[in-house]
Amino acid sequence: MRRSPEWRVGKNWVEQATDALLERLSARPALRICLATGSTPLPVYQRLTASPAAFAAASVLLLDEFGGLPATEPERCDAVLRRELVDHVEPADHRTIDVDADDLDSECSAIDQWIDRGGLDLAILGLGVNGHLGMNEPGSDSDGRTASVELATSTIEGAQRYFAGRHRPTWGVTVGLRDLLRAGEVWVLAAGPTKAEIVARSLQGAAGADVPASLLQDHPDCTWWLDPPAATNLEM
Ligand code: GLP
Repeated sequence: MRRSPEWRVGKNWVEQATDALLERLSARPALRICLATGSTPLPVYQRLTASPAAFAAASVLLLDEFGGLPATEPERCDAVLRRELVDHVEPADHRTIDVDADDLDSECSAIDQWIDRGGLDLAILGLGVNGHLGMNEPGSDSDGRTASVELATSTIEGAQRYFAGRHRPTWGVTVGLRDLLRAGEVWVLAAGPTKAEIVARSLQGAAGADVPASLLQDHPDCTWWLDPPAATNLEM
């Protein structure tokens, strides 16, 4: 039986993760995928744009979205995912998160209903330096569903990489841990030395709500794709 979570480390993690996703789509064209933004997955998305037909029957759900930004802000998660992937591959279904909805609770419930229509076959996630998944910050309820949430200070500071001082979002809407932990398969993508410590804590530290990514230790089919700098603190 395979170990889970397993981790794959290599300079070529982008190519390997891209190929693995194309294999999943080939085996199951109507794959239901939840996709993160942030900077880490973007090279994978860029490679995927060369294979648009693979997504013809797939359903894509945006993982999370910052609140309080102008509709025209190019670094909104929705704008990033469209620009980097969705506009190129045109999946059969694409569900975004309307953080500007008048009734945000209804919007969150509607996303839960979207998930409930067929579950998530695969969640492709990034990793916060505090171990967050999506915008599920330390202390989040492992049974929580889509919700409006406050961002941790490190997340607010980290987001300045995207917004270059234009905005300072303090909240967002995220798919909850319940549905990420129940996805048929979960991938976590992490690259660079700033992720080394939290990668090791998530994979080899005690599992608990204070490091949301550590809750994936109990997932039956979880793969971490790491570049060598992100894996330096792991005990092999
Ligand atoms: C952000 C997002 C996450 C993302 C993570 C890592 O705050 N809410 O969905 O995966 O932090 O971002 P990056 O890949 O840019 O390091």
